[in-house]
Amino acid sequence: MADNKYHQERLETPPPPAGCPAHATWSPLNSDYLADPYPIADELAAEHPVFYAEKLGYVVLTSMEDIEAVFNDHETFASVNVQDPVFPLAPGAQQILAAPDFNPVAVMSNRPEPDHGKIRVHTRQGFSNKRIKTLEPYIRQRSNELIDEMLAAGSPAEFVDAFAFPLPGETVFRFIGFPQSDDEMLKNWCGDRKAFSWGKPDAAQQVAIAEQMLSYWRYCRDFTAAKRDARGDDLASELITAHEQNPDDISYQEVESIIYGLSFAGHEAVTALICNTLQCLLPRRDVWGEICNDPTLIANAVEEVLRYNSSQISWRRLTTRDTTIRGTEIPAGTAVFLNFASANRQADLFDDPHSFDIHRQNANRHISFGKGVHFCLGARFARYETQLMTEVLAQRIPTLHLEQETFDYFPNITFRGPISMMVGWDS
Ligand code: HEM
Repeated sequence: MADNKYHQERLETPPPPAGCPAHATWSPLNSDYLADPYPIADELAAEHPVFYAEKLGYVVLTSMEDIEAVFNDHETFASVNVQDPVFPLAPGAQQILAAPDFNPVAVMSNRPEPDHGKIRVHTRQGFSNKRIKTLEPYIRQRSNELIDEMLAAGSPAEFVDAFAFPLPGETVFRFIGFPQSDDEMLKNWCGDRKAFSWGKPDAAQQVAIAEQMLSYWRYCRDFTAAKRDARGDDLASELITAHEQNPDDISYQEVESIIYGLSFAGHEAVTALICNTLQCLLPRRDVWGEICNDPTLIANAVEEVLRYNSSQISWRRLTTRDTTIRGTEIPAGTAVFLNFASANRQADLFDDPHSFDIHRQNANRHISFGKGVHFCLGARFARYETQLMTEVLAQRIPTLHLEQETFDYFPNITFRGPISMMVGWDS
């Protein structure tokens, strides 16, 4: 692993481990899987809980037990590959990212211990309950403003553009400390990171994304430098102070890189989660009615969405040494794909796992935020923001309903939410 680079490139696809069942045709990028992964994930798990996906070059783990064991053993299963492109990059994109000043370092999700632990201690401070709660007035106000605009334009509306895309981005940008005037630019820069690290963009798309990433990284560096001289009440200022007080734990370049990483982590999956929440609630009119009448049901409803229709349905690891999973020998250097889509609907963990139940007692037994040392730092943030958005939508538009039954999904191996979603309401 070269110098903790933020994005590494995998140049070779290792052969399947000896004795591991192989699947020749399945890939999370297949169109049937993108449209509805759950029945296929179930079948795959029933056939072979551990198998090698030839089209992906990864060993796939399907059960909650195995996925949790992997998350709990960060020494054998390193997270170094979680931000890497799934497939090798085209030369044009490689050339752009070879710019000498494109040097973000792995900091949180993709940094091994013990460095990760040191950095996380300082980053975690910014994610306190108290701090997250300070976002409430902003989220409520912006939710109401976006709803006002949507209502004024009239039913039906495209919900992703009108609400789900702008709000989570703006919220995390305020949290980090980016100025509001840069929102549009930032959202555009962040947009295609999903394709870069988790999709299969063609050569021309890769070049366009690489250019955006370079501009975005340069912006993050300039922003951090400016913050150093003009602190505010925001995460970036706290991180700079943490670096000044503990330069051996968290370097200046690591602060810049956290800002670069968080601005993506902090909104993409939340945009998808609020859409997935509406996808689950709105067609079930009785359930939506319950939510509108009793907002205290929203917290568990969001947990059930995270289990049943999560905005993140997989994650990755790379073995650092030879190991064995369910009797299959897995050599060092094997890329591992953790399939949350099957684990979150496992029949021995969840009663009637393919039904959506906002009253489910163990809804929060899902694995959508990971586990162990890298457990999602933004889990509280994501839950709180999604709960608040749902509450405001239910209060303001009880007649909200979906205007479509099927949806298109952006081709990638991990994040899941509709590209667009038409909604309507009674005027
Ligand atoms: C529904 C929304 C979200 C989902 C499903 C999600 C999911 C995840 C998952 C699966 C991981 C990897 C966990 C592991 O390796 O064990 C992760 C890590 C992380 N997430 Fe989230 N996330 C969400 C929202 C957020 C938000 C809103 C933020 C920040 C504002 C955030 C920040 C992070 C960070 C910093 C890490 C790396 C933590 C570490 O390595 O120490 N996430 N997230």
